[in-house]
Amino acid sequence: MKTVHKPIILIAVAAGFLLGACDNDKFPEPEVKDNVSFALDIQPILTAECASCHNPSEVEPDFREGYAYESMEELIDEGDIIPGNAEASELIEMLEGNSEDGNTMPPAGPMSPAKIALIKKWIDEGALNN
Ligand code: HEC
Repeated sequence: MKTVHKPIILIAVAAGFLLGACDNDKFPEPEVKDNVSFALDIQPILTAECASCHNPSEVEPDFREGYAYESMEELIDEGDIIPGNAEASELIEMLEGNSEDGNTMPPAGPMSPAKIALIKKWIDEGALNN
């Protein structure tokens, strides 16, 4: 009996470990909802998907926590974000990989549709520092 059960237990433990490891690596898919919060909903996406490059030692705009909204205000001033109109915002074209100037962000390819949808919602709701 023991010789039969041991391998099964080992496989179960190994599978559980691997699944756990994958879960930890994966950013949870956000819920697309109303009243999006920049601090609670958008910043975690920017931190996970953008700040590895967008920080003072790499490339502007700075999307680290504490600096990202100021960067968003610059994108609003430059017209890349049009509060209330995500569809017309260059930032969204970049995120969807169809920007006319050819920049796709992240450069490796678009994020999940749920993350992009949440950022769109935040822009449509006024791109607030909320
Ligand atoms: C692998 C590195 C990398 C990642 C990750 C990345 N970017 Fe970029 N980003 C760049 C580089 C490099 C440039 C400059 C490209 C250029 O000037 O042609 C850039 C430029 C930009 C610009 C243009 C700035 C301007 O003034 O026009 C924006 C906006 C931007 N990224 C947003 C984002 C967002 C939002 C994310 C996350 C969803 C992201 N990026 C993820 C490397 C990255």
